[in-house]
Amino acid sequence: VRVVATIPEVRQFRRTRGGSLGLVPTMGYLHRGHRSLVERARAENDAVAASLFVNPLQFGPQEDLANYPRDFERDRSTLEEAGCDLLFAPTPAELYPPGFQAVVELPKVAARLEGERRPGHFRGVATVVLKLLNIVGPTRAYFGEKDAQQLQVIRTLVRDLDVPTQVVGCPIVREPDGLALSSRNVYLNEKERGAAPVLHRALRAAEALYRGGERSAEALRAAMRATLEAEPLAQTDYVAVTDPETFDELESIGGPAQLVLAARLGKARLIDALRLP
Ligand code: PAF
Repeated sequence: VRVVATIPEVRQFRRTRGGSLGLVPTMGYLHRGHRSLVERARAENDAVAASLFVNPLQFGPQEDLANYPRDFERDRSTLEEAGCDLLFAPTPAELYPPGFQAVVELPKVAARLEGERRPGHFRGVATVVLKLLNIVGPTRAYFGEKDAQQLQVIRTLVRDLDVPTQVVGCPIVREPDGLALSSRNVYLNEKERGAAPVLHRALRAAEALYRGGERSAEALRAAMRATLEAEPLAQTDYVAVTDPETFDELESIGGPAQLVLAARLGKARLIDALRLP
């Protein structure tokens, strides 16, 4: 994998490699979930690029920017093994030079849930993703479905601003006990790690009700809440049953629905998601 840190080097790569290009944007500390994105990109494109950038613009002042886990050498070799051709690892000054001011706002889809708990978070995500898409010019860009609202924010951004990239959502990769892979799982101590599959169990409880014919969104929310509350190490942040396009809360489920939830376990704030049907 060729490692570059500047925008002109990325543009040069894009000019010299014709054909289709898949981009996997990441914040590093890569796990099997990221690897599955790179493999999918590899299978669907002539070349694959990944970006590694812990984006300061999407972290709130009380959040874990300084402590966010980092291991550049391990990430580089993971990408090498997965068949990535280019790794773009810019400094903050490369993406946000002095005078930088343009940001992207999505006032509806980004308003609730993660957007409400983490003010400015989706502005930071949308801005950096638009920049990365403009810099790299990929045919397709790959994102995990765990960050379901983020994925919808990005789909909306690409649609509304006519970005000529296809956004590809990829299935959540889980540990055998159901915990969704996340770079933030390293914050869990042993006991919290044991308790963490409760997020997935809560989603499964709601899914089981749905499969049994329940169509009241409140009944599904109550099942998710009750499952989370039964785990003393987990503090529920939110549970929601939303319209997958708008992320508005549903009252009853007449078509596709997106289940999302967030909970704190010790220092870790974890999210998970499941799509119905
Ligand atoms: O999901 C992530 O890792 C980040 O939010 C992303 C999409 C790379 C933007 O910084």
